[in-house]
Amino acid sequence: MRIVISEFMDRPAVDGLASRFDVHYDKDLVDRPPELAARLADADALIVRNRTQVDAALLSAAPKLRVVGRLGVGLDNLDTDACARRGITVIPASGANAQAVAEYVIAAAMLLLRGAYFATADVAAGRWPRAALSGGRELAGRTVGLIGFGGIGRLTGGLARALGMRTIGSDPLLPASSPAWAADATRACTLDELLREADVVSLHVPLEAATRNLMNAQRLAIMKPDAMLINTSRGGVVDEAALADALREGRLGGAALDVFEREPLPAASPLAGCPNLLLTPHIAGVTRNSNERVSSLIASKVAAALASA
Ligand SMILES: NC(=O)c1ccc[n+]([C@@H]2O[C@H](COP(=O)([O-])OP(=O)(O)OC[C@H]3O[C@@H](n4cnc5c(N)ncnc54)[C@H](O)[C@@H]3O)[C@@H](O)[C@H]2O)c1
Repeated sequence: MRIVISEFMDRPAVDGLASRFDVHYDKDLVDRPPELAARLADADALIVRNRTQVDAALLSAAPKLRVVGRLGVGLDNLDTDACARRGITVIPASGANAQAVAEYVIAAAMLLLRGAYFATADVAAGRWPRAALSGGRELAGRTVGLIGFGGIGRLTGGLARALGMRTIGSDPLLPASSPAWAADATRACTLDELLREADVVSLHVPLEAATRNLMNAQRLAIMKPDAMLINTSRGGVVDEAALADALREGRLGGAALDVFEREPLPAASPLAGCPNLLLTPHIAGVTRNSNERVSSLIASKVAAALASA
């Protein structure tokens, strides 16, 4: 049986699959669509990260395909309905990169609330902006609002509470009566309540019709003027132009964005040059450790799915 891997996968996991299956691994295959389509002609399984668009056109080039392994969690680069219609099993690496994302959120919250870490260039140049930087805040005693209380939202909440933060959450698919809230010492509230109360708002929702532009100008305006917004979920959940306006006009304390409407972020983005803004290239879930976990999980699940098919 043949497996095509079109984006980066940890080497030991690739080697493990290659010892049992006919594996074609090329981390740059995603950048050569005609060759990818040709390679899929006789593939039983395809393994992707988030750049390969597994849409109807790609699926039509893969008549034998039965399994798609996703080296990550979000499925927005996959046409899951088209896969279901073809009886193709889609396997995400649920949970395997959650720790990396949760740690990223805590680090970003600390950097933003403290504010002192943007001073490297000034200090190295002999300036001493001590007075200007003395208004930083501690995590302990602050409130983090988790929008989306699934795997990553809950893990982030656990780390935040361990540091003395209070956690509140909003998740319309999880009723206030669900024991999950009490189990995690988190108060369920409406989105507006959360936005009014939180010192740090962290997004952990999938990108779908109901969450597109969830953080629009109107909702950003509800946040406290010194609150921080952290988005590790998906670009498209935050209105980037509205966020840029809020930061420039001092209506928001700061933000950290790991995901964007368009990736790579276009150079002319309204976010360029905004104050108190941390930008990272969709890396929150990616560490050496999580790469190993994600790759070995997908390798074993894809192998099991092929064996049972
Ligand atoms: N930046 C990265 O590197 C990275 C890594 C991993 C995951 N992610 C993203 O993080 C997000 C969360 O992942 P997860 O594993 O926690 O997913 P999950 O499925 O465990 O949890 C998502 C939660 O969002 C809730 N939800 C859905 N619609 C909502 C809405 N309108 N308002 C509030 N809550 C809503 C769901 O009920 C669910 O509890 C996903 O979008 C995923 O793509 C990003």
